[in-house]
Amino acid sequence: MKVRKAVIPAAGLGTRFLPATKAMAKEMLPIVDKPTIQFIVEEALASGIEDILIVTGKAKRPIEDHFDANFELESNLREKNKTELLKLVEETTDVNLHFIRQSHPKGLGHAVLQAKAFVGNEPFVVMLGDDIMEDKIPLSKQLMNDYDSTHASTIAVMKVPHEETSKYGIINPEAEVSKGLYNVNSFVEKPTPEEAPSDLAIIGRYLLTPEIFHVLETQAPGAGGEIQLTDAIDTLNKTQRVFAREFTGKRYDVGDKFGFMKTSIEYGLVHPEVKDNLREYIIELGEELSKEQASKKK
Ligand code: G1P
Repeated sequence: MKVRKAVIPAAGLGTRFLPATKAMAKEMLPIVDKPTIQFIVEEALASGIEDILIVTGKAKRPIEDHFDANFELESNLREKNKTELLKLVEETTDVNLHFIRQSHPKGLGHAVLQAKAFVGNEPFVVMLGDDIMEDKIPLSKQLMNDYDSTHASTIAVMKVPHEETSKYGIINPEAEVSKGLYNVNSFVEKPTPEEAPSDLAIIGRYLLTPEIFHVLETQAPGAGGEIQLTDAIDTLNKTQRVFAREFTGKRYDVGDKFGFMKTSIEYGLVHPEVKDNLREYIIELGEELSKEQASKKK
């Protein structure tokens, strides 16, 4: 069966970015000039996804507005002949987006469960907004390609520094069945480095079969008292093979302040409007900082 649907959980409170996220969705924070959620939607479309459900919560209305037409703005840009900007504004309106509210933030597994009616009896993709992925083939598409041959759930993973395992779901790989594709013994949510069975971490892209919903319906809260998607995947793996696909492209973590700043700088360095000034500025700043460092050492 063809994978046509994607679910983007976006109900999180965004506490890592307070006070910016007190009245604004963290998914609308821009990398240079594009909201982070637009990167995720673009990856879905580039992968051939036809319908996207965004699971939202309080303060998330701007996400709906961002992907809707804005007649006043569009006619203003048209009158002023700002065709490039008009194109940018119009680009985001022609997407099959659906929204559902998660009224109680009970965890990622609970957010995904809200998609049950939307997904129905089809395989689907879950895309987390904190990870922007870059590769020749979009990561969601890579998982969809795997599904074409395995017809099984496949979770994207990537090696992380061992001391960071407690920030992620970690897999216990069994065997590499083909290049970069693993059979998995177990999936563990946020283990300490001492407990972690490997350094292969789950990174925000999942291809799941609809059977995951049966598991989620009775899933007890796990790490942090939340209903964890990782726990449900571990249960699913006991009755139905779940694979892990090792991602070898570039991952930008925009879910915390430092990752967000690094991503902004790297995207700024390739953005036609600011790249030259930014490069010059970084070089100058680097020189100043090295001088400062050298004088401290004296
Ligand atoms: C979630 C998942 C975790 C995964 C991570 C990837 O955690 O629960 O398994 O490794 O996303 O970013 P969160 O970052 O929401 O705490």
